[in-house]
Amino acid sequence: MQRVAPWRAVPALARDPLTALERIGAASGGEIVRLNLGVVRPLLLTNPDHVQRALRERPAQYVREGMLWKPLRRLEGDGIASDGPNWQRSRSLLQPIFTARSVTAVLDTMADAIEGAVAELEADGRAGRPVALVEGMTRVVFRALIRAFFADRVSAEEAGVLGAAISTAFAALGWRIALPFVPDSVRLPGDKAFHRAVRQIDAIVYPHVRRARDAGAGGHDILSLLVAARDEHGQPLTDRQVRDDVVSMFVAGTEATALTLTWLWMVLDAHQDVAAQVAAEVDRVVGGSAPTQAHLDGLGYTKMVLQETMRLFPAGWLIPRTVAEPDVVDGAPIPAGATVLISPYVMHRLPNLWEQPARFDPARFAPQAGRRHRYAYLPFGGGPHQCLGNHLFMAEAQLIVAAVLARYRPTLVGSGPLVARATAALRPRRPGTLLLQRR
Ligand code: HEM
Repeated sequence: MQRVAPWRAVPALARDPLTALERIGAASGGEIVRLNLGVVRPLLLTNPDHVQRALRERPAQYVREGMLWKPLRRLEGDGIASDGPNWQRSRSLLQPIFTARSVTAVLDTMADAIEGAVAELEADGRAGRPVALVEGMTRVVFRALIRAFFADRVSAEEAGVLGAAISTAFAALGWRIALPFVPDSVRLPGDKAFHRAVRQIDAIVYPHVRRARDAGAGGHDILSLLVAARDEHGQPLTDRQVRDDVVSMFVAGTEATALTLTWLWMVLDAHQDVAAQVAAEVDRVVGGSAPTQAHLDGLGYTKMVLQETMRLFPAGWLIPRTVAEPDVVDGAPIPAGATVLISPYVMHRLPNLWEQPARFDPARFAPQAGRRHRYAYLPFGGGPHQCLGNHLFMAEAQLIVAAVLARYRPTLVGSGPLVARATAALRPRRPGTLLLQRR
């Protein structure tokens, strides 16, 4: 095990945690690194075999507790966002709904919502109200997810309130995420806004859950499938569990997807040759029509570009775990209670796993490209907690890129270089504004 002393670790991590972790990872040679930060001493894993052990082989020993997870449960409850038996139950009911095959049922209604939302972005720009890139992508993604989850039962007004309330609640948790050791009984700033936002979310989601239940089986939207799902004892999820899982998926799905698309437009802006190839593929496959799921198989290069974007800029840049029982990995003792850090951002830039890791090269993901360790590339995590939304994300992102490029010419105004900033998700420092002009 390597150790990084506090006088080296603390200033570097405080100044620029991403660059510091990238450097520490590159120097580790695959050994576990103990980051001595004084009060806490997390262990950074950089060997894909070790990552595989923690995420896939021993998930009961490396659990999703502490740090980020505890405060999130105040918003998302004890279902898919937790761990243990409640998580297991939600996971087994949700898994069949999110396979590549099942998500196709919602893609065409999603495509329709995407078309509408993209057209509004263009209209806003034309009317002199250009939309900030992250905000614009969040609007498009949220509209698409609302349609996938609720079909057309949620009005535009309700969707607006729900979107704002979910972001307010998430942002208001910032203090609890920063101070995870403060008990819930102690009030922190943000608590009031949090409770107000949760009341707004519940006032919208619960009536839809009840209505979907009353309407019975038959709907293809995700909410209908969730209320119809039964566990191995034939039991449905309670209203509370459906609410918790729906909110969890909105939180997990909206920000990560919107930020990935934000990075994508920035990457295309910086790599005009790649942008020209993506545009040519969309022209060839979609032409000037509205993209649908029937076009997805033809958008293979677009998919490779998205995969390479998620290599350099994985929205889920950190996957923390808490050690529930001590372990020994390659002779290094891992004590119970330790925090283990797994960082897709670091893994995706390790020079021993990737040739010229800093270079943007979608060909790494070509079907004929060489094989790599499964845990060298993990934008969606791995093992039993692997992202449920990965198929939905890929289809949704391809549809959004195609909807933009088939009709419009995107330009970025005021965006900075491709430099990331670590918050709960990975954000660009200066994303700028997106202008769409009709072609
Ligand atoms: C670019 C987009 C996305 C990225 C980068 C991403 C990333 C991730 C990662 C890294 C995890 C693993 C967390 C862990 O192991 O602790 C995860 C889990 C999860 N994601 Fe995603 N995600 C994305 C989109 C979505 C979407 C669209 C949805 C749903 C609509 C979704 C739903 C979930 C859920 C429910 C989990 C928890 C699964 C479990 O613990 O069993 N994600 N995601």
